[in-house]
Amino acid sequence: MKKGYRRETIYSNNQIGKDIFELKILVNSLEDSYEDMGKPGQFYMLRGWEAKDPFLSRPISIASQSGNIITFLYEIRGKGTHIISKLNPGDTLELLGPLGNGFDLDIQGKIALISGGIGIAPMIYMAKELEGDIDFYCGFRNEVYYTDVIREDVDNLFISTENGSLGHKGFITELFQPKKYDMVFTCGPIPMMKKVWEMCKGIVPVYASMENRMACGVGACLGCVIETSRGMERVCKDGPVFSCEEVVFHD
Ligand SMILES: Cc1cc2nc3c(=O)[nH]c(=O)nc-3n(C[C@H](O)[C@H](O)[C@H](O)COP(=O)(O)OP(=O)(O)OC[C@H]3O[C@@H](n4cnc5c(N)ncnc54)[C@H](O)[C@@H]3O)c2cc1C
Ligand code: FES
Repeated sequence: MKKGYRRETIYSNNQIGKDIFELKILVNSLEDSYEDMGKPGQFYMLRGWEAKDPFLSRPISIASQSGNIITFLYEIRGKGTHIISKLNPGDTLELLGPLGNGFDLDIQGKIALISGGIGIAPMIYMAKELEGDIDFYCGFRNEVYYTDVIREDVDNLFISTENGSLGHKGFITELFQPKKYDMVFTCGPIPMMKKVWEMCKGIVPVYASMENRMACGVGACLGCVIETSRGMERVCKDGPVFSCEEVVFHD
């Protein structure tokens, strides 16, 4: 087992969309407290294979945590997530975490959570843990998932699909009005987060969870750096949550 990793057991691994899975891991180390298992915005490096190919573990955000079960939502993108999707309840996988800095939950006022695609994962946990008045904006390409779960935790839920199969036809940013909010949190494709920031700049602060490709996940390899107003910063160690004020979004 790689240094710092622990082996835990899969409680369930259910397909909830075409390439979307909900993975629940039973954390056996009973001394883990809520704080130890991670807060919204933090992530784990997952490794569901013994072999050296793929070489790197894969970063996945915590989508929720209850008792000693951590829930992840993931989309099959390539080899790593494909292997994880084939694992069954009772199988084990290696995980390292929680890693990175989460979102600040000590927020007052009206809050908007804006997700694009599988960027919904950390926002689900945010919606559960935040106190107060929350509007959740979820943008999907075609297929909508997990919105019934979110509905219980928010005041208003807005849905968009690019093909118009459910909710607003188009992009989720077309429904969003920055002036209504005291704070905005977002996770999803870079063009969406950039658009959110362009709309909010000078009106309301925005915090974004960046999803760069990662290698070590612990700040040692500089494989995940992004450009910020303070220079190059590591998404895994200095983030993944950054104020959009600091992030340099490229076209
Ligand atoms: C902090 C963090 C949290 C994340 N949380 C989640 C999550 O909760 N759920 C989830 O499904 N995914 C999440 N991701 C993205 C996830 O890590 C990648 O999709 C995964 O590593 C792809 O591995 P793979 O082996 O399946 O695909 P690979 O074979 O590694 O890649 C397949 C394709 O996906 C692209 N890709 C790989 N990684 C990323 C990435 N980070 N961003 C954009 N494109 C990428 C590659 O360029 C390639 O085109 C997160 C990433 C980070 C950094
Ligand atoms: S992945 Fe190695 S420094 Fe971030």
